[in-house]
Amino acid sequence: MVIPGVESDTTKLFRNGGSSSRINVSFIDKDGEKVDLQVSEGDNLLDIAQANDLEMEGACGGSCACSTCHVIVEDPDMFDKMEEPSDDENDMLDLAFGLTETSRLGCQVVMNKDLNGLVVRLPSMTRNLQASDFEQK
Ligand code: FES
Repeated sequence: MVIPGVESDTTKLFRNGGSSSRINVSFIDKDGEKVDLQVSEGDNLLDIAQANDLEMEGACGGSCACSTCHVIVEDPDMFDKMEEPSDDENDMLDLAFGLTETSRLGCQVVMNKDLNGLVVRLPSMTRNLQASDFEQK
């Protein structure tokens, strides 16, 4: 999907020193702005979002224990190409605000070549958990 008014300077590279084969992924943020990124196989959507200053909290640090990394996959066909969510992920997704048929937890989606061109939308709200909720008391 093309969002009008998106400038090419929103394209950023995500560099982690990994493999040279790049995979395209796009995020649509809460304001509807599309950010196009090139990432490496093995990167997960939480790490990618945080490395590019996108608004994804990831309160539990990617351990599948919150729903603050909720993303919505734009294309149902692409959603079908993804590995099935685990039972733990489904349990956490049940807690997510605005759950859709194509919702996933960003920390559990690991990029591979089959997902080239993936577009995910960041939901307008996530449950109000913070990293401090997961600190040892
Ligand atoms: S960061 Fe908590 S479930 Fe993904």
